Amino acid sequence: MLCLRSLMLLVLSLQFVTSSEDIGGRRRRIINGEDLRDWNSGYLVTNYFTWISNQHFCGTFDSFGSFFTNVKSIFVDYDNKGYWECSPHPQSEKCGGALVTPKIVQTACHCVGAAVGFLKKNGRERFKAHDPFADMVFVYHGSTSTDDMHRGYTSQLFIIHEKCSKKNGIVLYDYGIIALKTSVDSASPTNLAPVYSEKTLNRIWTDVNVKEPTCLFVGFGQFLSIDDWASPTVMQHTWKVFQNYRRCYSWMRPQSVGLNYTTDGTWSCFLHVYDTNSIVYKGDSGSPVTCNNEYFGLNSAIILDFKIPSHPKLRKDRKKITTQLVIVAPIIFTPFVNTAEQRRALIRQVNKRVKKHENARTLFREAESPP
Ligand SMILES: *[C@@H]1O[C@H](CO)[C@@H](O)[C@H](O)[C@H]1NC(C)=O
Repeated sequence: MLCLRSLMLLVLSLQFVTSSEDIGGRRRRIINGEDLRDWNSGYLVTNYFTWISNQHFCGTFDSFGSFFTNVKSIFVDYDNKGYWECSPHPQSEKCGGALVTPKIVQTACHCVGAAVGFLKKNGRERFKAHDPFADMVFVYHGSTSTDDMHRGYTSQLFIIHEKCSKKNGIVLYDYGIIALKTSVDSASPTNLAPVYSEKTLNRIWTDVNVKEPTCLFVGFGQFLSIDDWASPTVMQHTWKVFQNYRRCYSWMRPQSVGLNYTTDGTWSCFLHVYDTNSIVYKGDSGSPVTCNNEYFGLNSAIILDFKIPSHPKLRKDRKKITTQLVIVAPIIFTPFVNTAEQRRALIRQVNKRVKKHENARTLFREAESPP
């Protein structure tokens, strides 16, 4: 059957940029998995990156000690405030994301939803968004070190792409958003993910396919270079090389069986630069990937032990090469979230859904406790 046993949805925590991404003459050469400590590095992604916690993880209740010192926090109406004053626990990172408006975070669908069973009609596993309260996450913004993160914004609603589903082990339309209860106070136009015109979004896509740049991956996921099972406290980054649409298509045939690749092949392929240190584990899904300092897509998955053909010119040794294949969900497939033309409609739509959800919650409460 299809050789998918090694396919895993993981987060990658490295970033990379194209060769021309030496911004403004800065030569901050990055090697795999190095700390990206400098918030003013010139890599714009550090401005809009968001750190997303596991559900219900807020430092306040980490231990008895902090519980008692923070006991006054019990009397604060967090639901109303929309954020908690607490530092994140590095090991409870769930995903990364990009702040697209002061109240909307873009991340991967599989970060804010889960597969809930097969659809008979096309054999895909349908995804359902998590419940924003039962599965609440905390979102931190504006820092490249967990030591400097002190305010966790709470999720109000999770929305996933309506075509988000799983087929042949891979997530299609791996796009989701988190609507926050309150605007992030560190949000300013320069601290938000870029909003592109449709034309620019197309230009970025074409450029990347023509030039096959080396792009920047950032995140806080587990790095082999640090410790197999510990997540870093400082943003990590690495570089990976984009593989053009045609090549990605030819490599991804087994994953594309039963799909219309034109409409449902919502991913891009990247190869890592070095063998060591660039494997990243859980925690980097949803993190923004930038090429030439432009927001290209978000980290979706890694396929370990993927086999690609060797270079056609190497006729003597046509054995396949086993490597990791990094799958990124390009934002060209989410113009509704990422283009200027749709921005007002997006905000309206999100507000509408939040309201609808709130009403449902109110009704639920009323039903629970009749007058
Ligand atoms: C795939 O979808 C596109 C766009 O809807 C359509 O034009 C094309 O004919 C489809 N391809 C196949 C093989 O069905």
